[in-house]
Amino acid sequence: MRKPIAAANWKMNGNFALVEAFAKHAWPQGNVEKIFGLPAIYLTKAHEMGLAELAGEDVSAHVSGAHTGEISATMLKEAGASYAIIGHSERRTDHGETETLLIEKWKQLKAQGLKVIYCIGESLQEYEAGQCDSALLRQLNPVLDAGLVDADTVIAYEPVWAIGTGRTATPEQAQEMHARIRAFVASKYGQEVADNCSILYGGSCKASNAPELFAKPDIDGGLIGGASLKAADFKAII
Ligand code: PGA
Repeated sequence: MRKPIAAANWKMNGNFALVEAFAKHAWPQGNVEKIFGLPAIYLTKAHEMGLAELAGEDVSAHVSGAHTGEISATMLKEAGASYAIIGHSERRTDHGETETLLIEKWKQLKAQGLKVIYCIGESLQEYEAGQCDSALLRQLNPVLDAGLVDADTVIAYEPVWAIGTGRTATPEQAQEMHARIRAFVASKYGQEVADNCSILYGGSCKASNAPELFAKPDIDGGLIGGASLKAADFKAII
């Protein structure tokens, strides 16, 4: 269901003290859904302390078994997560994750009733070569064709050149890409599904630029990295 969302992505940052500080923080109780994407090892404590909604930052493509170091969808759920982020550009780049693999991860999450935040975005090279559309379609089409998108799906558009660089897409640029993503979804699933899909912007989003970005009709909120590591900063974005 389309709704305003502020999603934190701590990446490989934080510690138990930060989990505690976040859990004790007085978060706004308005209509903005808050999602806290934390390293898996912190989920249980966050859940026990009442922090919600929680997201894993990745998931295994397997159900269980001999996959050393992997964390299954069942485990994320048991630890208290209701979402998982998949396809983040850092996972795609650092771990060579492909759409084929991400489809398997998505299926695991779906089987456990976990909601998906699916990240897509063009690289700097693609951006400079004017290949944004083909980059998005390469990442989007396989999951659309696999029939995975549903009313709970959240898509995060994160231009790779804007992640952690301090360089943000302008609200106009971001709006244009979000509208295209929504149109791609509509072309395969119909307008109603597309209109229900929350599409978040990510890439150096912070309290100072969030209002302009979030004012755009197709930008339903943000996936926030650096600015989600301090409760006050993240609260300002919410
Ligand atoms: P950033 O990260 O806000 O630090 O640019 C966003 C993300 O990678 O999800």
